[in-house]
Amino acid sequence: MPKKMMKKEEKSMEIKIEKSKTKKSALKKLGMEEEILKKKLFFEPNLKDYEKTRKIFSWKKTIKEFSKHENLNAAYIALDKHIKTWRKNKIALIVEDENEKIEKLSFLDLYRLSNRFANLLKDLGIKRKDRCFIFLPRVPEVYIAFYGIIKNLGIAGNIFAAFGSQGLKDRLDDSEARFIVTNGELKKRIYEAEPKNIEYIIDIDGDVNKESKYHEINYKEEMKTKSSYFEIPKTSLEDYCFMLYTSGTTGKPKGVVHAHEALLVGMLTADWVLDLKDEDIYWCTADHGWVTGTMYGILANFALGATSIIYNGRFNAEKWYSIIEKHRVSVWYTAPTAIRMLEKEEEIYKKYDLSSLRHLCSVGEPLNPEPIKWGLKAFGLPFHDTWWQTETGGILIANYPCMPIKLGSMGKPIPGIKADIVDDKGNVLKEYQLGNLAIKPSWPSMMREIWKNEEKYKSYFVKGWYITGDLAYKDKDGYFWFVGRADDVIKTSGERVGPFEVESALVAHEAVAEAAVIGKPDPLRGEIIKAFLILKKGYNPSKELEEDIKQFVKNKLAGHAYPREIEFVNSLPKTRSGKIARRVLKARELGLDVGDISTIEEY
Ligand code: WTA
Repeated sequence: MPKKMMKKEEKSMEIKIEKSKTKKSALKKLGMEEEILKKKLFFEPNLKDYEKTRKIFSWKKTIKEFSKHENLNAAYIALDKHIKTWRKNKIALIVEDENEKIEKLSFLDLYRLSNRFANLLKDLGIKRKDRCFIFLPRVPEVYIAFYGIIKNLGIAGNIFAAFGSQGLKDRLDDSEARFIVTNGELKKRIYEAEPKNIEYIIDIDGDVNKESKYHEINYKEEMKTKSSYFEIPKTSLEDYCFMLYTSGTTGKPKGVVHAHEALLVGMLTADWVLDLKDEDIYWCTADHGWVTGTMYGILANFALGATSIIYNGRFNAEKWYSIIEKHRVSVWYTAPTAIRMLEKEEEIYKKYDLSSLRHLCSVGEPLNPEPIKWGLKAFGLPFHDTWWQTETGGILIANYPCMPIKLGSMGKPIPGIKADIVDDKGNVLKEYQLGNLAIKPSWPSMMREIWKNEEKYKSYFVKGWYITGDLAYKDKDGYFWFVGRADDVIKTSGERVGPFEVESALVAHEAVAEAAVIGKPDPLRGEIIKAFLILKKGYNPSKELEEDIKQFVKNKLAGHAYPREIEFVNSLPKTRSGKIARRVLKARELGLDVGDISTIEEY
């Protein structure tokens, strides 16, 4: 059993479970009393009976039904199909920015604009499977570009706008992207990154440099000249659709590739879990640079015909509530850190009319009982936890509106998905035993490939199971409980960060000789990034140097992936082969027993 990354209470829980085998006392220890939430339902949920649906569900039948669509391209299913219905003039997207500028686009607007963009790319010579990245803040062009790319059967890649030149370079070079869509401001970082394979930079602000070594394309001018009609080529469920870079313990980020078929899981879960209906105003707070913002911000939400809202700005409690009030948001998909940030500003919610909210969901980090209880107090509704990963493409474990919530549990696998807890050899464990959360392959939104890295792809599988990298256990009722990560991946404010990427950025600083990075538990952000640094000769620890290093990583790697805490040290624990033993640093930081360190040396 992977014990290395467990927090104190998780460890004590495990001991309790192993010793007493009584789950009740162990759960109590964690403060996770088996409280069943009795909630008022103001609406008829889409999924009426979880157990019954699970019993009769068949992928074969569902895929057959899905395949009846005129075209299997995700852009057709999410967008174009609505043009033939009454939804044509319905508002698909509302975008509000920090200055309260509001833009509204109907399904027809999005259809026409994405067709123009598809023609623009076609004229530039985009080919099937060509990688085209979107490096933009939350503006309508993200949606227009995404659909335009996949209509051409290109692979759309979303990159979080907080990434700096190095973060960008790693992603663009590994994917060998030919196209990138950006704005005047972010374009500077592309030039700093000097990507090797980029041929075209499409600038939505249109301020293009004709002398550039890349071809700069004036989006505004070009879009005017393109036709708003585009025929999507015949697409198969297996054609590649989008890719997102995500982090593991080792090495640079990996490109997770999804096929057009992934939308099927997105649609089923947007129906069963997010409970989206035609009349909903839906707000997914995740950025499109993360998988939630892609699958449930660009694809599945549109496919179900709901009106979606995006806010292009920084977190601000007043602003968030005003968005819900002003646009009458009814379904809200957010993350525990955001909920905790709202909770911190306790009384503000009382100033707003939030009565339009009818269903709340959460993802990305453990949703502890506390934010659920606070949600009940503030909104009169519980947050429903959902579990999934970039690799799984869609929600796989969830709490459904029709099912009682157990506070602190991720819920149960969606119909069609078999999840279980297995040991490191892939043997299924018993109820309440802590182990690896594993999923039985395969399902339609399962990643199709790790870009050009078959070895990495294969490493996810053990004895016929897809191993998620999460530690969890299952209770007697089939509910799953998240306990921690089995590896060194950091989740800070719900955003996934690999320690290696941060360490690489740190050692590029002139003063840093060696660096090790861990996720340190944080009451607000879930985890924060903490770095242990050995300085080069001639440099001394100081507050100024600390600040300089933080700023350096923000600029070079990403605004969200810098160490909020730095400790200067004289040595680091390493294995005999010279690898940094992050588990030892983490255990020390948490005041835990460091375990067997016979193979660890300090230097
Ligand atoms: C974590 C995000 C606890 C988990 C959609 C997983 C969660 C990783 C939950 C994937 C949850 C996601 N409770 N932890 N409900 N949902 N995680 O790829 O460690 O950014 O493996 O996908 O987030 O992060 P990713």
